[in-house]
Amino acid sequence: MRMPCVSGEDRYAVPEAIIKRIRQSKRASVLTGAGISAESGIPTFRGAGGIWEKYDYRKLATMQGFREDPGLVWEWYQLRQREMKKAKPNPAHETIAEMEAHFERFAVLTQNIDGMHKLAGSRNVIELHGSIWRMRCPRDGTIITLDAPVNEIPPLCQCGSILRPDVVWFGEPLPSEVAEAASKAAAESEVMFVVGTSAVVYPAAALPILTKNSGGLVVEINTEPTDLSSYADLSIFARAGEALPALWHKIAYPERFMTEHPIIPNR
Ligand code: OAD
Repeated sequence: MRMPCVSGEDRYAVPEAIIKRIRQSKRASVLTGAGISAESGIPTFRGAGGIWEKYDYRKLATMQGFREDPGLVWEWYQLRQREMKKAKPNPAHETIAEMEAHFERFAVLTQNIDGMHKLAGSRNVIELHGSIWRMRCPRDGTIITLDAPVNEIPPLCQCGSILRPDVVWFGEPLPSEVAEAASKAAAESEVMFVVGTSAVVYPAAALPILTKNSGGLVVEINTEPTDLSSYADLSIFARAGEALPALWHKIAYPERFMTEHPIIPNR
């Protein structure tokens, strides 16, 4: 049964039936998007001030753009690496890391390439769109892991080819083992939390539908309604760094919730 969306001062008034189902669930997953890292200072892609408003994705996030000007693409990725290196996980990433221990099976399916979930302590992380902290040789497949932004632009493989960021660009499929692992986790989830994604980029956007189709519950947290909101069992319209810890504490620590996590509406 679809439950109403909650927003404004009632946004954390989660129906008890939903809380109960989540508490009883053994298999869960979280699908995250750029919105979860917004409170860590990493910009989102869409909406006012979003990356795709400022930059041309055809030049920066396609194989054709890379072939035409790998230096430009690397300058942009170096800029983003520097930005992401400065960022720290926020309470939403930390809550997700904590959630892992409460379920028999738990997977973080993230569209983000920033590495924040692993930094926060999540272990089972499926990076759907790759990682900004890896480079790949388009010719021989060599993978190089980074722990700091690249120095030289463009970086070269030992074979002489220009390395590319090991991320998924527009028009490229997800690596098949990543797509399969994510679909399996989504389909077997009794509950999926969908946090900070506009849910417009496929196949990631189809993952909550897999959960729904196999009888699972979908709980969305986003600052605004998305394409997914009409499918979700519950949508909480609030910032992830506030709403997710509050929701999780309500689920996991009901007796402590009222005293330790008072809900203070932010408007
Ligand atoms: P988007 O930028 O499309 O969407 C970010 C979502 O986060 C929006 O729906 C916002 O309303 C929401 N949001 C913003 N701040 C928030 C906050 N503090 N708390 C909760 N929600 C918040 O980002 P994605 O959905 O991740 O792909 O975009 C999907 C893919 O499109 C990305 O992985 C990237 C991009 O092009 C590739 O580069 C292949």
